[in-house]
Amino acid sequence: MSNPIGVGLIGLGTVGSGVVELLQDAPSSMRRRKHVDFALKRVAVRDRARPRAVAVDKALLTAEAAEVVADPAVQLVVELTGAAPAYEWVSAALRQGKDVGTANKALLAERGEELFELALKNGADLMFEASVAGGIPIIRSLRSGLVANRVESLYGILNGTTNYILTRMSRGEGDYADILKDAQDEGYAEPDPTMDVSGMDAAQKLAILCRIGFHSTGTGSDVFCEGIEHIEQSDIEYARELGFVIKLLAIAKQQNGSVEARVHPAMVPTDSLLANIHDEFNAIQVQGSAVGPQVFSGRGAGQMPTASAVVADMVEMVERKVAGAGTAIGDMILGEEAVSIAPVENVEMRYFLRALVCDQPGVLERIARILAEEHISIASVIQKERDLEGGSVPLVIVTHEAKEAAMQRALGAIDALDAVPDGVKLIRMEEL
Ligand SMILES: NC(=O)c1ccc[n+]([C@@H]2O[C@H](COP(=O)([O-])OP(=O)(O)OC[C@H]3O[C@@H](n4cnc5c(N)ncnc54)[C@H](OP(=O)(O)O)[C@@H]3O)[C@@H](O)[C@H]2O)c1
Repeated sequence: MSNPIGVGLIGLGTVGSGVVELLQDAPSSMRRRKHVDFALKRVAVRDRARPRAVAVDKALLTAEAAEVVADPAVQLVVELTGAAPAYEWVSAALRQGKDVGTANKALLAERGEELFELALKNGADLMFEASVAGGIPIIRSLRSGLVANRVESLYGILNGTTNYILTRMSRGEGDYADILKDAQDEGYAEPDPTMDVSGMDAAQKLAILCRIGFHSTGTGSDVFCEGIEHIEQSDIEYARELGFVIKLLAIAKQQNGSVEARVHPAMVPTDSLLANIHDEFNAIQVQGSAVGPQVFSGRGAGQMPTASAVVADMVEMVERKVAGAGTAIGDMILGEEAVSIAPVENVEMRYFLRALVCDQPGVLERIARILAEEHISIASVIQKERDLEGGSVPLVIVTHEAKEAAMQRALGAIDALDAVPDGVKLIRMEEL
């Protein structure tokens, strides 16, 4: 066995403690690997006095993350804080030629390009498997197992909190607000759930997958993003009637010279694989040019699944170094011209539209005319019995494929009708 690799850990919270646990009690699959021997040299936390879930020599603890990076005994820096200065720590480590592992999706999605460049310039590695879908080795699969494929499309359930909420709504266990509250009480949702329910967390993860799968340089903010806050029980029931389930989908597709990338609630067929990913589980369906469709599923978060992905990256970085096999980041980033994320306006989809309309003759005709003017053809209409209290009737329209830009213009015109006082609700449909 060669000399142990000096590890500097920044963050000893949920994931950091899991990583230490896996290093202290490595399974035989890790112990069998000849060059894999890690020695924890320094650990940064905010509060050194706080009791820790794992046994760590107190002398290793510091409240200054910069000390971890600068320590000459540290060869490999593992950033597991999610804190604002993470960019400074990670970039400083890369500048010193130190390899870095991180689970920080926001950092990668928003400032990945700067970090990739620094890593390549300094011959350092940068790996981030845990930043997307926790324990599922999706980045490894895209860059390694599927290396002989052109990725054609990718559909993901990348956010456990929203999948948990939508699953429970589909089981009729309450409306959005009640279930969100339960999810917060049970620890599935953050006290401030905005990043999750708005779709932004999934958009950041999708931007990272697009970088690896499609060579796109767009950030999380370039991904079209709509959340689940407006999904109502009646949407779920209509979806069921039509043979669909509502999921928050992250979708990316190869286009000519760019990538289509979007996150939004979508109706997917009840018998599709993704419709059957329940509760807090994540899944990604990849269409490869050689393998065809493949589905990866598992826990997208949680202490040990996430730590498992971090440690797998640490092992690979060490083995690459010993083998002189170059960096993983080089394999992921170099070699193809980067493309951009295309605006969503030109994407064609089917749409589910729902509105409460005044019970007057000719309303359906006027709506149909607005859609026709935008070349949107109607596939089916459901008009239920009258809502006697409000004097209005629920109207549901399913369209054939139409351009997003045309649909947005049509919605604007329908929303302006006096007979549609509350406007139209839209949910996109994906056949998968
Ligand atoms: N938890 C998951 O399931 C999961 C899944 C995927 C990805 N991730 C990502 O993994 C990272 C860590 O998440 P986590 O759940 O482990 O977070 P966490 O439990 O809140 O732990 C954060 C750790 O970072 C330390 N820390 C925070 N700010 C610091 C600073 N300025 N200087 C030094 N140390 C600092 C904290 O110190 P104290 O302990 O002293 O407060 C704590 O040990 C995040 O980027 C997160 O997005 C987490």
